[in-house]
Amino acid sequence: MSPLSAARAALRVYVAGAVVVLAQLLRRCRGGLPKPVFPPQPERVAIVTGGTDGIGYSTVKHLARLGMHVIIAGNNDGKAREVLKKIKEETLNEKVDFLYCDLASMESIREFVQQFRRKKISLHVLINNAGVMMVPQRKTQDGFEEHFGLNYLGHFLLTNLLLDLLKQSGSPNHGARVVTVSSATHYVGELDMEDLQGSHHYSPHRAYAQSKLALVLFSYHLQDLLASEGSHVTSNVADPGVVNTDLYRHVFWGTRLVKWLLGWLLFKTPEEGAWTSVYAAVAPELEGIGGRYLYNEKPTTSLRLTYDKELQRQLWSRSCKMTGIPDVTQDAVAG
Ligand SMILES: NC(=O)c1ccc[n+]([C@@H]2O[C@H](COP(=O)([O-])OP(=O)(O)OC[C@H]3O[C@@H](n4cnc5c(N)ncnc54)[C@H](OP(=O)(O)O)[C@@H]3O)[C@@H](O)[C@H]2O)c1
Repeated sequence: MSPLSAARAALRVYVAGAVVVLAQLLRRCRGGLPKPVFPPQPERVAIVTGGTDGIGYSTVKHLARLGMHVIIAGNNDGKAREVLKKIKEETLNEKVDFLYCDLASMESIREFVQQFRRKKISLHVLINNAGVMMVPQRKTQDGFEEHFGLNYLGHFLLTNLLLDLLKQSGSPNHGARVVTVSSATHYVGELDMEDLQGSHHYSPHRAYAQSKLALVLFSYHLQDLLASEGSHVTSNVADPGVVNTDLYRHVFWGTRLVKWLLGWLLFKTPEEGAWTSVYAAVAPELEGIGGRYLYNEKPTTSLRLTYDKELQRQLWSRSCKMTGIPDVTQDAVAG
């Protein structure tokens, strides 16, 4: 990617962010979003990736308050101890656990799934939340560009390894749900099937936007596969908006300054940012409904390209090869 293309990618990401921030500001001026109320969820089990901080942390708290058994999948044991203590105290729910899972390592993801299986419990909700943004060029343990490898491929692998448990746990009246957290940056993302790793010329903005775009394509294709099998599992995308979290630690210093000075006004709080994920995970009106892009607790349209079935299928096939997952899906969708 030439320096000009990299600058264009950065500009597109900042414009996408600015549009969302303006919409949030307008909404705040009109009185803000009403706090959603969700029904209790006893006997339900959820996994939330990246539940030790930011939106994931607030998501875990919301779900724990609803009575769910929540397992945080994260890569920071030390932080997890503190987090578990705090969440249990605040929610009075003792059924909040942590299992180590480094999404930048396929070995760690596989180990996490084995450990989860040893618990011999159901799995009703999987929230693919963890992520990094605009990190310097570096690779996952398996040699993938970090945004693509961690944000996208890590969740692709995790979801596929847990699918049988989700299918067993979903019932006709109360399905299981996969919720994948994307971002408005997907609207300005481009998927270069010839260079998914951005190895020719690295742009952190392009890489982040691409990973979020790939997650939408993945979520929609997964929904088609699940529907074609008649399974009681749905797959939706949650877009949290622009949220005041540490995700911005690698962005341009000017943006960090704005966030530091005006984050309280322009950004959603992590608590507000978690609402769409929680909505996707538990809202009764979404029972049996998948293939949606959810924003501010409502379905909306995603980038036109994300509805391209052929592109979804191509990306899925490629991802299967990269993660060593059997690609049984082509036949399933075709048939
Ligand atoms: N903040 C926003 O404005 C915004 C907007 C749109 C979409 N999103 C999306 O929302 C999701 C959550 O972001 P956030 O804003 O809450 O960011 P955050 O505060 O930085 O939290 C990210 C979480 O991901 C975890 N994580 C990072 N690398 C990991 C790895 N290798 N393995 C397992 N977990 C890992 C982090 O673990 P540690 O606790 O150890 O750091 C943290 O818990 C991301 O997917 C992000 O793209 C955020």
